[in-house]
Amino acid sequence: MKKVIFSGIAPSGTIQIGNYLGAIKQWIKIQESGEFRTIFCVVDEHAITIPQDPEKLRAKIMEVATLYLATGINPEKSLIFIQSHVSDHAELNWILNTITPLGELQRMTQFKDKSQKQKSILAGLLNYPTLMAADILLYQTDLVPVGEDQLQHIELTRMLAKKFNAQFGETFTVPEPMINKTGARIMGLDNPEHKMSKSAENPNNYIALLDPPEIIRKKIKVAVTDSSSEIKYDKEKKPAVSNLLAIYGLFAEKTIEEIEKKYQGKGYSEFKKDLAEVIVEGLAPLQARYKELEKNPDAVMAILKKGAEKAKETASQTMSEVRQKIGFI
Ligand code: TYM
Repeated sequence: MKKVIFSGIAPSGTIQIGNYLGAIKQWIKIQESGEFRTIFCVVDEHAITIPQDPEKLRAKIMEVATLYLATGINPEKSLIFIQSHVSDHAELNWILNTITPLGELQRMTQFKDKSQKQKSILAGLLNYPTLMAADILLYQTDLVPVGEDQLQHIELTRMLAKKFNAQFGETFTVPEPMINKTGARIMGLDNPEHKMSKSAENPNNYIALLDPPEIIRKKIKVAVTDSSSEIKYDKEKKPAVSNLLAIYGLFAEKTIEEIEKKYQGKGYSEFKKDLAEVIVEGLAPLQARYKELEKNPDAVMAILKKGAEKAKETASQTMSEVRQKIGFI
């Protein structure tokens, strides 16, 4: 049997190159290897852990699904679906909540960060990682390709799987995280101390996958750099330039050493000008495909519907077992 890969993106904010380099780019490689059963989900139930405008949310869900297809996720090779179309996610989330220690949820870094920005902290935000565990465990997932920021949530998922298995008998596969060496944590262009984020208030923090070329050039031009002018990778002393080098390397498929060599003795302005073009070129094919796909939302919807039907087959098998194990009739 092929090993199962599951991952997802929350349709909140603007999908940015951190999501692409940290997650989606890995997904495509894994899909193309043909070695795995690949499942990619648009996790709309996660998006509503922060208040969302319903109309905007609907548009975002379609945008993320369309972006999945535009970046190369192929419905012939991978399952693509919307989380809320498979109600087992919510049901398993509930059951897992009943074995999740409150303290574990309260110590999650993302919960701490996100709750600081909210006027009133809602229970859904606290329970976010349990829902993520449900997503992963429903499909008996072996590997979860994500950026570094999700590591803590996957550790919690592993803990819950082991706890459930110990308490009720072998039920869930215990998943492993799958994290890229470079690209696992792309930092903000406006502040290399914090990760690039799709919900950042300042749009100069990120490059969105759908940013037009002139915006990309402008954002790279104003990206912060470090005090000494050398183009050298040094995460401690030169965090901003190191981040730009990582982005360059991932888009151009070049090693950091190759890029350092190319810009030896040259200044930031030449480096940044080239970097902007590398990103513009890197995103052009997916942007063109997005424009085409966007014209036919019905076709995208049909793919998502079919994906949900297929996902339900696996999810319902897991759920029958779970219900039986915990003593439901
Ligand atoms: P989300 O929507 O915040 O991010 C989607 C993916 O992008 C990665 N990522 C980054 N990688 C590198 N550098 C960055 N600056 C950066 N920002 C984001 C994230 O690590 C993630 O892989 N909880 C998840 C969604 C989710 C999920 C799941 C993921 C729900 N259920 C089950 C995997 C499996 C989230 O909010 O990701």
